[in-house]
Amino acid sequence: MVSRVIPVEAFDLVIFGGTGDLARRKILPGLYRRFYDGQMPEDARIIGAARSEMDEAGFRQFVKEALKEFVSKRYDEEKVATFLEHLTYVSVDAMGTDGWKDLAKVMRKDVVRAFYFSVGPSLFGEIAERLHKYKIADDDSRIVVEKPFGNNLETARALNRTLAEHFHETQIYRIDHYLGKETVQNLMAVRFANMLFEPLWNAQYVDHIQITVAETVGVGGRGGYYDKSGAMRDMVQNHLMQLLCLTAMEPPSKFEPDAVRDEKLKVIRALQPVEPGDIVRGQYKSQKESYIDDVENPRSITESYIALKVEIANWRWNGTPFYLRTGKRMKERVSEIVVRFKEPPHSIFEEDTGQTANELTIRLQPNEGMDLTVTIKEPGPGGMRLIDVPLDMTFAEALGEEAADVPDAYERLIMDVIRGNQTLFMRGDEVEAAWAWTDPLIEAWESREERPHAYEPGSIGPEEALILMHRDGRRWRELRS
Ligand code: BG6
Repeated sequence: MVSRVIPVEAFDLVIFGGTGDLARRKILPGLYRRFYDGQMPEDARIIGAARSEMDEAGFRQFVKEALKEFVSKRYDEEKVATFLEHLTYVSVDAMGTDGWKDLAKVMRKDVVRAFYFSVGPSLFGEIAERLHKYKIADDDSRIVVEKPFGNNLETARALNRTLAEHFHETQIYRIDHYLGKETVQNLMAVRFANMLFEPLWNAQYVDHIQITVAETVGVGGRGGYYDKSGAMRDMVQNHLMQLLCLTAMEPPSKFEPDAVRDEKLKVIRALQPVEPGDIVRGQYKSQKESYIDDVENPRSITESYIALKVEIANWRWNGTPFYLRTGKRMKERVSEIVVRFKEPPHSIFEEDTGQTANELTIRLQPNEGMDLTVTIKEPGPGGMRLIDVPLDMTFAEALGEEAADVPDAYERLIMDVIRGNQTLFMRGDEVEAAWAWTDPLIEAWESREERPHAYEPGSIGPEEALILMHRDGRRWRELRS
């Protein structure tokens, strides 16, 4: 089963930071894959823009190398050669005057113009201003803005204001690549295209929800950025927050940008402040490998792991906690949402028969899929013994390998930019609301100069995070991919 590929309109996509790491790893390979699948039209053009002095041939060679490294199955010499013909390069100084007139000259009229800001946030304003000054952007142009979108509420507001000086909200695409993941969108399909789950999706039937994003990688190579952010800013304020919103939100009236984003915003605004006792921060550390060495800051008290218990103050979720956890250098790479239902109100079976509560797990990565544990009678004679069995649906098995070869989040999101669909992008007020909730939590532990708990690299995180759940008579689902 293969999905239909509908080509998008002709476009000129300028990638600022076109020779940077994100462009190399994600954006350019993603565009190639869309080209390979026939979604990128003949007259699409990709314009690399960066400070490096490079000519068109040099940029094409750079992209070819990137594709060799990051496009596995679909790498095909002939296709790559044709794809490269769509590419050109302009050397531009984001903070100065050089190159802007050249960029203006290469842009075509009557095609969608999109500008990907794959650069540090300090350049967003500079680029936005010059795009207007040199008349490179018009009212239909789109800009794509990468995270981090600010470092706190104040800086996020300032960024929003700067961008708003030059672009309408409908032109601004704030990327959270988690929203482009196949299973994240599937969460909406599962909830709102089935009758089965939604009637039970509330505090009356759900005991608690767990959201886990565990990574095996450390912070090596990105230490400078990461040490100023930590897991809270790097992962919770954006990716986990988005997962929480999609899990908790009310059904939007339509699958349309503002209908969806309004509902997500209501969830963020209903988040309760988290008590210090409901937050566990950790930092990986062992004899051989430690966070402080990776970030080259022996005094760092930044967290590479965080677990928190979050409450949503609204009718649907009153009394149902959401436990979030994310960390680097953990045992497995697993991202999943677990909905743990309550036990039946009365059991007709004897105690110790083995009855437990149902659990729905939505696996975002790896092995995208869902499973639902159902309690059944253990087969065989000898009385009523109950066991839990999973109704397991791994998409690769259920739909075939080809259908499970899903596009990378970036591919989908860039095509959405060209289509002008903002559903999977964050609105300015959403980002600000997320910081407004996050800021006081960070300020509280910073003011106490709180040290994170140590955890072994390759483990499930600090002990204290287990206690966070045990205390409530609950436990984390085992980390397994
Ligand atoms: C990024 C974070 O936004 O997401 C990284 O900055 C993190 O620290 C990454 O590793 C995780 O993304 P994925 O798609 O690999 O789960």
